[in-house]
Amino acid sequence: MSKPIVSFLVSGRGSNFKAIADKIVQGYINAGLGILISDKKDAKALDIAGSYGMDSFFVDPGLYISREEHEKAMIKLLKKADSDLIITAGYMRVLTPYFVKKYKNKIINIHPALLPSFPGTNGQKQAFDKGVKIAGCTTHFIDDGTDTGPIIMQATVEVKENDTLESLSSRILEEEHKIFPETVKLFCDGKLKIIKNKVHIK
Ligand code: GRF
Repeated sequence: MSKPIVSFLVSGRGSNFKAIADKIVQGYINAGLGILISDKKDAKALDIAGSYGMDSFFVDPGLYISREEHEKAMIKLLKKADSDLIITAGYMRVLTPYFVKKYKNKIINIHPALLPSFPGTNGQKQAFDKGVKIAGCTTHFIDDGTDTGPIIMQATVEVKENDTLESLSSRILEEEHKIFPETVKLFCDGKLKIIKNKVHIK
């Protein structure tokens, strides 16, 4: 069987994208690199994609009359690249049901909090401001809600007395860079099964 092709949607820095791409290039994840699409022209991730020799695209949301039309343009590119798995790595837009249906159970996101707590933007800040003692991050399939899809992996991070939002966020990010590649590996090895909205790892 041919290797699954992994493509990426991003909006910024691209450190999670890099963590996954490195593991694909090293052969730790049995997959091929697809394309990278950004909704921001100046996303650093676009440069990183170039360093892997990947095709990368800025698909400007401002050029389309609706979110679906913007997504149609992205889907065209993703299809052309034969993408089997879509990774949203710091992609700051909510995908519409139209996109989610096209790639049902084939879109994986990372969220910087222990879902189902603190969904939406600034998960780390929400958790920090709430005073949680255990923070963390979550990988999950994307469904029609915001950060509500089936949970795949989670990692915890203890909040220290002297933590600032920045220090906590940076320790959470270290964990993101571990569980996201592991999650992609499990998917690409065909080890994830969703039964009644729960992910089982074979
Ligand atoms: C990460 O904290 C991720 O959890 C959140 O957005 C951030 C993206 O960072 N969804 P990067 O672009 O992967 O460096």
